[in-house]
Amino acid sequence: MNKRLLFTANWKMNKNPRDAEKFIEEFLRLIDRRVHKDIILLPSTICLSVIRKALSGSYMKWGAQNSHFEESGPFTGETSPKILAEYGAEYVLVGHSERRRLFGETDLAISKKIHSIQKYFMTPILCIGETLEERENGKTQEVLLNQLKVDLSHFNEGKNIIIAYEPIWAIGTGNVARPEHIFDAHKVIKSYLNELGGELLAEHTHILYGGSVNPENCSEIAKIENVDGFLIGSASLSPQKLSCIIKNSI
Ligand code: PGA
Repeated sequence: MNKRLLFTANWKMNKNPRDAEKFIEEFLRLIDRRVHKDIILLPSTICLSVIRKALSGSYMKWGAQNSHFEESGPFTGETSPKILAEYGAEYVLVGHSERRRLFGETDLAISKKIHSIQKYFMTPILCIGETLEERENGKTQEVLLNQLKVDLSHFNEGKNIIIAYEPIWAIGTGNVARPEHIFDAHKVIKSYLNELGGELLAEHTHILYGGSVNPENCSEIAKIENVDGFLIGSASLSPQKLSCIIKNSI
């Protein structure tokens, strides 16, 4: 089944509310309304109110880059999934390699986050991927399966999830993964989803590729079987580049 491609912009810790507003003004001029519903913006938490307002007349989606698994309590600096949902967020990124590596996020914590994101009727966007060392040692499949097994251990199969395959060595480096690597990884993910929840889950779930996606390399990657869209970091900071990625991929 061919799915409509999804384009997810991970702004990371970039852009202030004014920059976010300017981005939307420009981006809306560049992009066809028919693809609005296939775009998900993930700004930093401080820009959420501006994004919510700027997108109120559009079908474009938005969400957060992280949330805690508890709904409230003594968790200084964290964001509640319940409050995000009440505020109107539809998506939460979870398990990004920067969160795993720099903030010590474990697979167990990720599994709890997925559970709470789904509990509040939002869609988790789970990131998984191997390091360069793991790839060079032939461990990619094992790493992906281990992450999926634990991360999805509290997953509700009746609800939506998006999975992003992001080889860590491809993130922010300009070294995009080769088509055969992407094909193999997405196949592993799809088969796992099939085992976990049957054909319906495997067919229904978008599997995105992320890691140095840009306007030049996206069209080739978009043609790979089981690539259902992109998770885009640095190129998503520019309205021109993001709109080119969308135009060149569909
Ligand atoms: P990149 O980041 O596109 O800058 O490589 C992708 C990501 O971290 O999600």
